[in-house]
Amino acid sequence: MTATNSLLHRTRVELPLQSRERLISLLNATLATALDFKTQIKQAHWNVAGPHFIALHEFFDTLADEAEAAVDLVAERVLQLGGTALGTAKIAAERSILGEYPHHAVDGKQHLEALAERMAIFANHLRAQIDESAKLGDQATADIYTELCRASDKSLWMLEAHLRTA
Ligand SMILES: [Fe+2]
Repeated sequence: MTATNSLLHRTRVELPLQSRERLISLLNATLATALDFKTQIKQAHWNVAGPHFIALHEFFDTLADEAEAAVDLVAERVLQLGGTALGTAKIAAERSILGEYPHHAVDGKQHLEALAERMAIFANHLRAQIDESAKLGDQATADIYTELCRASDKSLWMLEAHLRTA
Protein backbone atom coordinates (compact mmCIF):
# COMPACT_ATOMS: atom_id res chain seq x y z
CA MET A 1 0.00 0.00 0.00
CA THR A 2 1.36 3.44 -0.84
CA ALA A 3 0.68 6.76 0.84
CA THR A 4 -0.73 8.24 -2.37
CA ASN A 5 -4.28 8.65 -1.06
CA SER A 6 -3.33 9.61 2.45
CA LEU A 7 -2.24 12.79 4.15
CA LEU A 8 1.01 11.11 5.07
CA HIS A 9 4.34 12.00 3.51
CA ARG A 10 6.06 9.38 1.40
CA THR A 11 8.60 7.31 3.26
CA ARG A 12 10.62 4.16 2.63
CA VAL A 13 9.84 2.91 6.16
CA GLU A 14 8.28 -0.52 5.66
CA LEU A 15 5.26 -0.38 7.94
CA PRO A 16 1.68 -0.64 6.64
CA LEU A 17 -0.07 2.69 6.08
CA GLN A 18 -2.83 1.92 8.59
CA SER A 19 -0.27 1.09 11.26
CA ARG A 20 1.66 4.28 10.57
CA GLU A 21 -1.53 6.35 10.77
CA ARG A 22 -2.38 4.83 14.15
CA LEU A 23 1.20 5.25 15.43
CA ILE A 24 1.27 8.90 14.34
CA SER A 25 -1.96 9.50 16.22
CA LEU A 26 -0.51 7.92 19.39
CA LEU A 27 2.71 9.91 19.05
CA ASN A 28 0.89 13.21 18.49
CA ALA A 29 -1.18 12.58 21.64
CA THR A 30 2.06 12.01 23.54
CA LEU A 31 3.58 15.12 21.97
CA ALA A 32 0.71 17.33 23.16
CA THR A 33 0.98 16.00 26.70
CA ALA A 34 4.79 16.24 26.82
CA LEU A 35 4.66 19.86 25.61
CA ASP A 36 2.04 20.76 28.21
CA PHE A 37 3.98 18.93 30.91
CA LYS A 38 7.18 20.82 30.06
CA THR A 39 5.44 24.16 30.58
CA GLN A 40 3.94 22.91 33.86
CA ILE A 41 7.38 21.85 35.13
CA LYS A 42 8.72 25.31 34.25
CA GLN A 43 5.82 26.78 36.21
CA ALA A 44 7.10 24.85 39.24
CA HIS A 45 10.73 25.84 38.51
CA TRP A 46 9.83 29.54 38.50
CA ASN A 47 7.28 29.70 41.31
CA VAL A 48 8.66 27.35 43.97
CA ALA A 49 9.62 29.12 47.21
CA GLY A 50 10.72 28.16 50.71
CA PRO A 51 13.74 26.76 52.54
CA HIS A 52 14.66 24.25 49.80
CA PHE A 53 14.28 26.78 47.00
CA ILE A 54 17.58 26.38 45.16
CA ALA A 55 17.63 22.56 45.29
CA LEU A 56 14.06 22.30 43.97
CA HIS A 57 14.50 25.15 41.46
CA GLU A 58 17.44 23.28 39.93
CA PHE A 59 15.83 19.82 40.19
CA PHE A 60 12.72 21.04 38.38
CA ASP A 61 14.88 22.49 35.61
CA THR A 62 16.49 19.09 34.97
CA LEU A 63 12.96 17.60 34.73
CA ALA A 64 11.99 20.33 32.24
CA ASP A 65 15.08 19.53 30.15
CA GLU A 66 14.05 15.86 30.09
CA ALA A 67 10.53 16.78 28.99
CA GLU A 68 11.98 18.93 26.21
CA ALA A 69 14.13 16.00 25.03
CA ALA A 70 11.02 13.77 25.03
CA VAL A 71 9.14 16.35 22.94
CA ASP A 72 11.83 16.30 20.26
CA LEU A 73 12.17 12.53 20.21
CA VAL A 74 8.42 12.01 19.81
CA ALA A 75 7.90 14.81 17.25
CA GLU A 76 10.70 13.53 15.04
CA ARG A 77 9.35 9.95 15.18
CA VAL A 78 6.08 11.31 13.74
CA LEU A 79 8.05 12.64 10.77
CA GLN A 80 9.98 9.38 10.35
CA LEU A 81 6.64 7.60 9.98
CA GLY A 82 5.46 10.06 7.32
CA GLY A 83 3.26 12.21 9.53
CA THR A 84 3.04 15.84 10.55
CA ALA A 85 4.09 16.74 14.09
CA LEU A 86 1.31 18.68 15.82
CA GLY A 87 3.31 20.57 18.40
CA THR A 88 2.01 24.09 18.89
CA ALA A 89 1.03 25.44 22.30
CA LYS A 90 -2.61 25.70 21.18
CA ILE A 91 -2.78 22.03 20.17
CA ALA A 92 -0.96 20.99 23.36
CA ALA A 93 -3.52 22.87 25.45
CA GLU A 94 -6.41 21.21 23.60
CA ARG A 95 -5.12 17.65 23.58
CA SER A 96 -2.98 17.17 26.70
CA ILE A 97 -4.21 14.48 29.09
CA LEU A 98 -2.99 16.54 32.08
CA GLY A 99 -5.15 18.88 34.11
CA GLU A 100 -4.08 22.49 34.52
CA TYR A 101 -1.26 23.14 36.98
CA PRO A 102 -2.38 24.45 40.41
CA HIS A 103 -1.55 28.14 40.27
CA HIS A 104 -1.81 28.46 44.05
CA ALA A 105 1.17 26.13 44.64
CA VAL A 106 3.95 27.95 46.48
CA ASP A 107 6.01 25.77 48.78
CA GLY A 108 8.15 22.82 47.82
CA LYS A 109 5.69 20.16 49.00
CA GLN A 110 2.83 21.62 46.95
CA HIS A 111 4.95 21.70 43.79
CA LEU A 112 6.40 18.22 44.41
CA GLU A 113 2.90 16.79 44.86
CA ALA A 114 1.58 18.52 41.74
CA LEU A 115 4.54 17.29 39.68
CA ALA A 116 4.45 13.74 41.10
CA GLU A 117 0.76 13.46 40.21
CA ARG A 118 1.45 14.61 36.65
CA MET A 119 4.64 12.56 36.24
CA ALA A 120 2.67 9.43 37.20
CA ILE A 121 -0.02 10.18 34.60
CA PHE A 122 2.65 10.81 31.96
CA ALA A 123 4.70 7.70 32.86
CA ASN A 124 1.63 5.46 32.83
CA HIS A 125 0.54 6.91 29.47
CA LEU A 126 3.99 6.10 28.08
CA ARG A 127 3.86 2.57 29.55
CA ALA A 128 0.56 1.86 27.78
CA GLN A 129 1.99 3.01 24.45
CA ILE A 130 4.89 0.51 24.62
CA ASP A 131 2.49 -2.40 24.04
CA GLU A 132 0.29 -0.40 21.63
CA SER A 133 3.30 0.38 19.40
CA ALA A 134 4.54 -3.20 19.57
CA LYS A 135 1.07 -4.50 18.61
CA LEU A 136 1.21 -2.23 15.56
CA GLY A 137 4.49 -3.89 14.56
CA ASP A 138 6.72 -0.92 15.33
CA GLN A 139 9.44 -2.03 17.74
CA ALA A 140 11.36 1.19 17.14
CA THR A 141 8.49 3.36 18.43
CA ALA A 142 8.00 0.85 21.28
CA ASP A 143 11.68 1.36 22.09
CA ILE A 144 11.21 5.15 22.21
CA TYR A 145 8.25 4.69 24.55
CA THR A 146 10.26 2.26 26.68
CA GLU A 147 13.13 4.74 26.99
CA LEU A 148 10.78 7.60 27.90
CA CYS A 149 8.80 5.45 30.35
CA ARG A 150 11.97 4.31 32.11
CA ALA A 151 13.17 7.93 32.45
CA SER A 152 9.76 9.09 33.70
CA ASP A 153 9.58 6.29 36.27
CA LYS A 154 13.01 7.41 37.52
CA SER A 155 11.85 11.03 37.74
CA LEU A 156 8.69 9.91 39.54
CA TRP A 157 10.81 7.99 42.07
CA MET A 158 12.86 11.14 42.71
CA LEU A 159 9.75 13.29 43.16
CA GLU A 160 8.18 10.72 45.48
CA ALA A 161 11.42 10.37 47.47
CA HIS A 162 11.21 14.09 48.36
CA LEU A 163 7.69 13.50 49.72
CA ARG A 164 8.35 10.27 51.63
CA THR A 165 8.23 10.50 55.39
CA ALA A 166 8.68 6.81 56.26
FE1 LIG B 1 15.40 29.10 34.86
